[in-house]
Amino acid sequence: MAAREQLLFVCSSCGYESRKWLGRCPDCGEWDTLSEQKKRKIRVGKTVAEVHLLVGEGGEEPMRLVTGISELDRVLGGGIVPGSMVLIGGDPGIGKSTLILQLLAALARQKHKVLYVTGEESVGQIRMRADRLAVQSSNIFIATENSVQAIIALSEEVKPAFLAVDSIQTMYSEETGSAPGSVTQVRESTSLLVSLAKNSGLPIILIGHVTKDGAIAGPRVLEHMVDTVLYFEGDRGQVFRVLRTVKNRFGSTNEIGVFEMKESGLAEVDNPSALFLAERPVNVPGSVVMPSVEGTRPILVEVQALVSPSSLGTARRTAIGADPQRLALLTAVLEKKIGVTLFDHDIFLNIAGGIRIDEPALDLGVIVALLSSLYEKVVDPTTVVCGEVGLAGEIRGVGQMEMRLREARRLGFKTFLMPESSNRRLEAGETPGMQVHTVRTVHDVVERLFVP
Ligand code: TYD
Ligand code: MG
Repeated sequence: MAAREQLLFVCSSCGYESRKWLGRCPDCGEWDTLSEQKKRKIRVGKTVAEVHLLVGEGGEEPMRLVTGISELDRVLGGGIVPGSMVLIGGDPGIGKSTLILQLLAALARQKHKVLYVTGEESVGQIRMRADRLAVQSSNIFIATENSVQAIIALSEEVKPAFLAVDSIQTMYSEETGSAPGSVTQVRESTSLLVSLAKNSGLPIILIGHVTKDGAIAGPRVLEHMVDTVLYFEGDRGQVFRVLRTVKNRFGSTNEIGVFEMKESGLAEVDNPSALFLAERPVNVPGSVVMPSVEGTRPILVEVQALVSPSSLGTARRTAIGADPQRLALLTAVLEKKIGVTLFDHDIFLNIAGGIRIDEPALDLGVIVALLSSLYEKVVDPTTVVCGEVGLAGEIRGVGQMEMRLREARRLGFKTFLMPESSNRRLEAGETPGMQVHTVRTVHDVVERLFVP
């Protein structure tokens, strides 16, 4: 059996790999960050893999661990899959550790033995948080540890049904030379934990801080290594928190769970539409409601725009909770197709409540809010709008209209402005109690809402 040895140099800052040593990393531009990694042996000449028939036993969906926190179970695709690796990313202070402790408490309540390993806080600090959350259980084991090898040994000793590691940036593998938090360490530690999960069937949840500049490895470099990636988002000044699935080998993506941060921990929000519309100003120009669908759940959000003459040389364009590129595109469509002058106006767009909307169905909401602010004309507060806008000024159909309609009706809205093609696809009788108006172009929108 021949073993071929290969030299490998890895950048400790960005993870760039090279066959030869370089003084400066060609990827991130840092100096003197490449160092030789432990030699990898590539074995040739012996077959070790096993092949199986595609058909056979063992293809069924395994029993999931259901937490009972339904906002969390939904984003996981219906619970935690045995042997799976879940990554929760988010800004520091957003509430990741709080969420994990509540998750562990929920599993412990079902008599599962769970292990929480932290490299960030002391046992005393975790106990303080547990007091605040009124979590008490002899099924929850806690440890402060930074070495992945020690964590693996610990989990073999404790034999938990679930392991949580907080956070991956504080962990290190004893076999890798670089500092905790570096790309190499974060990757190596994760890959050791992934092997633990796959080999033993132990489900593991990893916490990762999102970092601003890639100086320290954030969760993005790990996304491809794990089964499920969740992001915990929200504005720290606000109480809402959105848990969003960005990758899931065992369920659909784009699901969201909505929580509210309270004195005694995170509370599930069953009626997010009501929450996001709670402080909506009525009869004010520049505001309109849009029924969005995130995964399998409809949420009504308020789209706000402020369009005002610019006092500076270059007009400002700001989008919060929406894609700035999309705003630029829609502004251009309005200028070209309706002939409004916007280049000398500052434009601010905001989705109220700190939620982020990515779907193109938001477009119609954006142009209605922009025009409403520009013309200083109020949009009827019982109207919702939804549709994609194309470059030719056409209003294009969007999916899941039934779901959007139902949610709008449930919250007492009376009129729905939608693309003509979406309306054609709706079956008769699907809109009782709701008046549907259709539009084909941005011109129709202006005529329908802003021409007296
Ligand atoms: P934490 O879970 O420590 O955040 P992360 O692990 O993402 O860094 O929670 C951070 C914030 O949450 C902290 O500022 C205090 C607040 N908080 C509450 O409002 N209520 C609570 O019950 C708890 C435990 C925390
Ligand atoms: Mg934390």
